[in-house]
Amino acid sequence: MSNNITIVGLQWGDEGKGKLTDFYSENAAAIVRFQGGNNAGHTVIVNDKTYKFNIMPSGVLHGKLAVIGNGVVLNMSRLIEEITALRADFEITPKNLLVSENAALIIPGLHPEMDAIFEGASGKAAVGTTKRGIGPAYMDKIGRFAIKAGDLLFPDSLPEKVDRLLFLHNAIRRGCGEKEASASHILDYLNECGEALSPFIGNVGQRLYEIKKSGGRIIFEGAQGSMLDIDHGSFPMVTSSNTIAAQASIGTGVPPSEIGFVLGIVKAYTTRVGNGFFPTELNDEVGEYLGKAGSEIGVTTGRSRRCGWFDAPLAARSAYLSGVNGAVITKLDVLDELSEIKVCVGYEIDGEKVPFLFNAKDEAMSKVVPIYETLPGWKTSIKGMKNLADLPTNARRYLDFIEKHIGVRIIAVSTGPERSETIEISKPVLR
Ligand code: GDP
Ligand code: IMO
Ligand code: MG
Repeated sequence: MSNNITIVGLQWGDEGKGKLTDFYSENAAAIVRFQGGNNAGHTVIVNDKTYKFNIMPSGVLHGKLAVIGNGVVLNMSRLIEEITALRADFEITPKNLLVSENAALIIPGLHPEMDAIFEGASGKAAVGTTKRGIGPAYMDKIGRFAIKAGDLLFPDSLPEKVDRLLFLHNAIRRGCGEKEASASHILDYLNECGEALSPFIGNVGQRLYEIKKSGGRIIFEGAQGSMLDIDHGSFPMVTSSNTIAAQASIGTGVPPSEIGFVLGIVKAYTTRVGNGFFPTELNDEVGEYLGKAGSEIGVTTGRSRRCGWFDAPLAARSAYLSGVNGAVITKLDVLDELSEIKVCVGYEIDGEKVPFLFNAKDEAMSKVVPIYETLPGWKTSIKGMKNLADLPTNARRYLDFIEKHIGVRIIAVSTGPERSETIEISKPVLR
């Protein structure tokens, strides 16, 4: 049985995946990003120092091998910035950073610009993207126009590839009334980044195979959340990658049996950045309280996150989709001051109960009325607690209630942003 761990978010992102990836990385051999790009913003706080990663796997702080898989769309400028910042405290060498030769590139000036153009033209239908060029970069990958990291190892092949890419992009830019992009500018950029990054570019599938053969543990670090999955999320208000656990295999080149223990990260309430339905959203003083107490400001774009009650059917559906073996409840401390806490346990549409919405379309979901159960709060600080036994009875009751309604064992609880502010209940081991 695989001893790997795949970490995924069960809501709309920002569940605390970065913190928990770091937490579980101590005994790992490699930590691997398998989808998304620098739309992600993962926060790790250790000994009062805060690290915010957009592209670098969060486990890098343990000095383990950090891997960027083929499923990622890679903005090399951002990666170089993160490497430079990390070098103040850590050595980053080809021994502890590997970038897949098959990762498709996000090219500044091309993909982020197209993202902004599409968003700007969409009016009320805008997704509210991070404008990091994620959608356009995946369009180019699926359309087979993308330039991949491994192409940088063959600089002579680049002019033809850039021309082909610009054939498409400049046609779109002309159509949108934008200035054409220049091939020589892009070539200069690619060659410059190629020089800096080529020592890190290699065959990820093979390296992970070797780690498995030698008995090492791999941690797959998901980005975004299940509700942002391109196929299974709240389309079209989603990101452009598959965010559920199955993608850990496709996005790195390991077989599905190597996904290992699937760990679902879920906030004790719900947040969302960007547009689209949100049945349990609170546009009142409780929503404001959650935003403030939880410091719910997006890492990547600095936008305020929308806040609402915990949505159990949504988390249960996400847990099912990823085959979650254990859950971590994060930010339980944020609920400390509430005297009553509501949990959505089901939905109604036009007075009819709907148990489990597999087809999470905006049109259907915007009609949904949540059915709530109300639990008593604990009105005391649990911040930083490390033992389950120390939690107030009502906090334990809240956890038991969530566990029952999402149908997944809770294996840890996070009581603060710092690495050590964590209650470990059981180990993430497949039985
Ligand atoms: P990610 O995208 O899933 O990695 O999550 P983010 O880092 O974007 O957002 C989670 C935020 O909550 C970060 O600011 C974390 O430092 C913080 N955080 C994580 N766990 C906890 C917790 O248990 N309590 C509190 N108060 N903050 C937490
Ligand atoms: P982490 O990994 C929260 C949201 C955007 C937007 C939609 C599409 O930190 O949890 P995109 O730029 O991906 O095309 O935007 O997805 N989004 C996230 N929301 N956390 C994230 O990542 C997100 N990455 C993208 O706000 O609604
Ligand atoms: Mg985030």
